[in-house]
Amino acid sequence: MQEKVLLLDFGGQYAELIARRIREMNVYAEIRPFQGITVEEIRREGYRALLFSGGPNSVTSADAPHFDPAVLSLGIPILGICYGHQLIAHMAGGTVESGNVSGEYGKIEVETDASPLFENIPERITTWMSHMDSVKTAPAGFRVIARSKGGVIAGLSDEGRKIYTLQFHPEVTHTDYGKAILRNFLYRIAECAGDWHVENFITDSVEKYRNMLQGKKALLALSGGVDSTVAAVLLNRAIGDDLTCVFVDHGLLRKNEGDVVEQTLKSRFDMNIIRVNAKERFLQKLSGVTEPEKKRKIIGEEFIRVFEAKAEELGRINYLVQGTIYPDVIESGTGNASVIKSHHNVGGLPKDIGFDGIIEPLRCLFKDEVRKVGSALGLPKEIVERQPFPGPGLAIRVIGEITEEKLRILREADAIFREEIDRAGLTERPDQYFAVLTNTMSVGVRGDMRSYGYILALRAVSTDDFMTADWSRIPFEVLEKASDRITTELKEISRVVYDITSKPPATVEWE
Ligand code: XMP
Repeated sequence: MQEKVLLLDFGGQYAELIARRIREMNVYAEIRPFQGITVEEIRREGYRALLFSGGPNSVTSADAPHFDPAVLSLGIPILGICYGHQLIAHMAGGTVESGNVSGEYGKIEVETDASPLFENIPERITTWMSHMDSVKTAPAGFRVIARSKGGVIAGLSDEGRKIYTLQFHPEVTHTDYGKAILRNFLYRIAECAGDWHVENFITDSVEKYRNMLQGKKALLALSGGVDSTVAAVLLNRAIGDDLTCVFVDHGLLRKNEGDVVEQTLKSRFDMNIIRVNAKERFLQKLSGVTEPEKKRKIIGEEFIRVFEAKAEELGRINYLVQGTIYPDVIESGTGNASVIKSHHNVGGLPKDIGFDGIIEPLRCLFKDEVRKVGSALGLPKEIVERQPFPGPGLAIRVIGEITEEKLRILREADAIFREEIDRAGLTERPDQYFAVLTNTMSVGVRGDMRSYGYILALRAVSTDDFMTADWSRIPFEVLEKASDRITTELKEISRVVYDITSKPPATVEWE
């Protein structure tokens, strides 16, 4: 059985980062909101270790998240971080002081004591703190193993029960030896074996689905994006021809995109792909539509209709395969973020077409792990390292009404911009970069003649999670080259501008 550890999420902004750090150390980490699991379930699941995340609350307030203290006596090693540190101290009978007096923010020097958690770590380290409350007295049976320069308790341990807590954040890079501390917890204290490797994941998944789907048929909606492509290749390895991929081409993809995906999958993996060219249908429905949310809804609905029709034609299919990945699962689990835009994904397909079930082979993977699985399965770099592309495609990058002509211009301009960024070989490549065709015209001059054409915007952002993003500081020379080429090669564009707005207040996409 796959060894795993559980991260109980108390609402901290770093929960995902903690899980990723742990997985980088070859231990499989699962995140669960603290309300979503009981002590009994934790015992049953056989976790090798537990971690308590940080969180924005104060343990002393009435409505603060708490957890059943019985968890401390399960005999499973525990590491509490930030709020987790205060909560464990509080649960075990220590006192936590509330308020501003003992708060610490930013880089704080900490002195550590001898402890298995700090094995091979200097006595003095710089750590990253962000807390208002602090532990005033350690609970009975606990020892103080770290103190900040200001005298605040920065670490506790009950070595008998293998319970450790830290006021600082070992998961962020600002904490010296943060990774080493996490590694000590996982390998020295919790004695993990570290069996989480992409290759094992592939072998296990292939075996699992081969057994599960014997004699059954599965259908996958291929969008051309990384997730559904990797899911397709993985399932294809498990069940070969019993998997059919339906690739709905809505005519809103980037230059050559549909062809590259289709040809790669067919030629390298001998995959069963049906491409439905539905461009006319989508453009007709979108004709005259200018409102962004309406565009999204039309595309989402139309996608489902086209897919349904194809599925019906294919006859009895047992399972629907989806490229859902772990961040989608976590988001829908806690799901309190307000809807800024209704995101359309192939994940939103109807569940009532008559399938016996849904299969989500990448459900437990982070994006970078999906890419690793893709590479290990033999997908080329151009596909695995592809930047994210929205489900509604270029429809939300052509501002205002969509026409075939505008799509053609945008496709070319976008290809030039991406080519120039790739050619520049930037050390810090933006995480997403693309062109937007505005519906504003502007005057220009070409060969002594007045010209009048579209304003094209270039957008590039750097981000970890796309929830917030910074506009990328691309070298001027690269922007200049892109602008020159775009205005020379595309007479329809009179002016190129660069978007220097971060998210928030802007979003990544313009619509
Ligand atoms: P925004 O514009 O919301 O974009 O800041 C954040 C990230 O999400 C992508 N995006 C979408 N992806 N369907 C998708 O599958 C959508 O409707 C959609 N809208 C935005 C966007 O490209 C960026 O990576």
